[in-house]
Amino acid sequence: MSELPQSLGVLILAAGKGVRMHSGKPKLLQPLLEEPVVYYPLNAAKTARLKNVAVLAGHKGEAIEEYVKREWPEVEVIWQREQLGTGHAVKSAEHWWKQFDRLLVLSGDVPLIRPETLSAMIRCFEDTAPRCVMMSFVVNDPSGYGRVVRLADGGVRIVEECDATEEELYTQEVNGGVYLFDTTALSTVISRLNSDNQLGEYYLTDTVQLIDDTEGDVRVMVCEDPQELLGVNTPNDLAVASGMLNKRIIGLHMRNGLKCMDPATTWIGPRVEMEPDVILEPGVQIWGKSHLSDGCRVGAWSTLRMVRMEPGATVFGPSVISDAVIGENAEVGPVAFLRNDVKMRSGAKVGRFVEVKNSTLGEGVKALHLSYLGDATIGRGTNIGAGTVTCNFNGVSKNATSIGEDCFVGSDTMFVAPVSMGRGAATAAGSVITKDIPDGALGIARERQTNIDGWNERNGVIRNKNGKKGDD
Ligand code: UD1
Ligand code: CA
Repeated sequence: MSELPQSLGVLILAAGKGVRMHSGKPKLLQPLLEEPVVYYPLNAAKTARLKNVAVLAGHKGEAIEEYVKREWPEVEVIWQREQLGTGHAVKSAEHWWKQFDRLLVLSGDVPLIRPETLSAMIRCFEDTAPRCVMMSFVVNDPSGYGRVVRLADGGVRIVEECDATEEELYTQEVNGGVYLFDTTALSTVISRLNSDNQLGEYYLTDTVQLIDDTEGDVRVMVCEDPQELLGVNTPNDLAVASGMLNKRIIGLHMRNGLKCMDPATTWIGPRVEMEPDVILEPGVQIWGKSHLSDGCRVGAWSTLRMVRMEPGATVFGPSVISDAVIGENAEVGPVAFLRNDVKMRSGAKVGRFVEVKNSTLGEGVKALHLSYLGDATIGRGTNIGAGTVTCNFNGVSKNATSIGEDCFVGSDTMFVAPVSMGRGAATAAGSVITKDIPDGALGIARERQTNIDGWNERNGVIRNKNGKKGDD
């Protein structure tokens, strides 16, 4: 008869001060490929299909709590009001984890950990039934990490750098900050921790030796890829982790078919989804929850945030696009700026030096040159002439412009919103439109041209013998 599966809780430590980051923002909310650092262990736990996840918040914890509640509603937030060290941190959540048989402790600042590694750790626990499994790794430069000291009797303990002897400092096997505990064993030893060390903190690392001494059953899993256990403590660590994660993400997309011209200058965030046949030119950045469909191409030095590109859509670089849907076979750029909820239906085109904000462009709409379209709805088939501006702000509030289907908007038209234009209507170039234009009508709002004979000669703006303007 097989035993009932043991219950498991996952506690992510995210309450520390992170002083080495030199920032007013909590370390675990520092952006790493534009997602907070704590996103990564949360995502690793989710991908490994682990339930019962809690984040421990403390220093500037309101911001962490707000993030977790918004983005990870299934995850609990537990408070460590005073930050007295990692051991104290885990003890602060004892009321929560004592309901489980086992507890996986992840450090919020170890973002490269892979879900497969968490699963392997759990398997190791199931196969060998120890009281604790801890993860170590071997590095050339162990500075900043706790050293794993193997004892003569086969036991193990972790010595923090500031408490280590000269000899221990040379140890290249270090603690990764990821542990799996039998909660009964952990409960027994955690109240026996003291802060009798250089930092005056309660170290979680001391529980390893305490369990080893009392129950004698600690396993050390040596992680083969030391990158996975990189701890992010400083701005330099953040940059190193960004580079490693980016390489990993681009590699994954390329294995699925992405054609990335220059991985060295391309940046892709962890929430970006890509269908197989996408082309990225050099220098492209894609962030947030973006989706690129089959046959899309993104031009050099473009930045996309929360963008959905439908099949066959093209962005000519450089362009900056955030919060937008680019329809099937639609085109954007070069040098276009789209932001705050833009919807381009299939075949629509936004061209050179055009800014579009909070607007919908119907099927086949063209706005190819030098325009600002804000708070506008534009019907299918309409052509927007060069230099068109929707004057959506009257100094107090924002107002909408509605332009119908199959319209012809003459170059340099100013729409003073709120204003609308019916279907099949037109505006004369250079018009300042302040009144609604009915279906099929031409809106013309400009001075009639007057020609003043002989003005050029009288004012001396004539061409001299060399063909230059002005006096000899
Ligand atoms: C810790 C380990 C070290 C290991 C390294 C791996 C201890 C004493 N040392 O050192 O052996 O090599 O991680 O990356 O555990 N935290 C809290 N509450 C606190 C203090 C910390 O929640 O009171 C959280 C931090 O937010 C962080 C994690 O615990 O996510 C680790 O804390 P940190 O101060 O970064 O420990 P390290 O010095 O890196
Ligand atoms: Ca750390």
